[in-house]
Amino acid sequence: MTVALRWIGHSAYSLDIDGHKVLIDPFVSGNPIAKAAAKDLDADVILLTHAHGDHVGDSVEIAKRTGALVVCNFEMGDWYLAHGVQNVYQGNPGGTFRNDWMSAKWTLAFHSSSFPDGTYGGQPNGFVIRGGGAAIYHAGDTCLFGDMNLIGDEGLDLALLPIGDCFTMGIDDSIKAIKLLQPKAVSPMHYNTFAPIEQDVSAWAARVESETGVKAIVPEPDGEFSL
Ligand code: NI
Ligand code: MN
Repeated sequence: MTVALRWIGHSAYSLDIDGHKVLIDPFVSGNPIAKAAAKDLDADVILLTHAHGDHVGDSVEIAKRTGALVVCNFEMGDWYLAHGVQNVYQGNPGGTFRNDWMSAKWTLAFHSSSFPDGTYGGQPNGFVIRGGGAAIYHAGDTCLFGDMNLIGDEGLDLALLPIGDCFTMGIDDSIKAIKLLQPKAVSPMHYNTFAPIEQDVSAWAARVESETGVKAIVPEPDGEFSL
């Protein structure tokens, strides 16, 4: 497999899939833990899980500068089209975006979704991303839910799970989620960005390995790892 991941911070990732660039939820400017600068980020595809400001982030600027395809839910897509982003692919849970080097399947997420300007942002979602021989689940912002076992049936190499509590599942429920998803490895997101979502990530990693046997990968902000 040849997928390299860079955790920008919060729920933001840059993926390199066989030389192609995918950005997920690129919240960079104003992200207290991000070290990257939005102007330096490149993208062929931008995946968005929902419309909250800590996920939409710098996506409009990056999409306009790079011409990247924005892949998001239907209502979000209409907002991007109305804000000068012309390269948009709209879907909803159950659907799959495909090109010749990756796919991204919309999954359920239980959360809310509105843009910072108050516009309704449609149904929040996660994605199962396939490319470079790997399957990666980005959960978006969500609580634990039982149908994660169906997402696990996809055969996941990596799950990216929120652990911050308050707005999403916390550590206890993330352990249950990992048992349902059965990924080969798991990496935490959506924690320590702001005071309400501070977590002891070392304690989380120790629990993951002792209670689930799944490999826990904990990068620093701007840290890279590969599958
Ligand atoms: Ni959110
Ligand atoms: Mn969020």
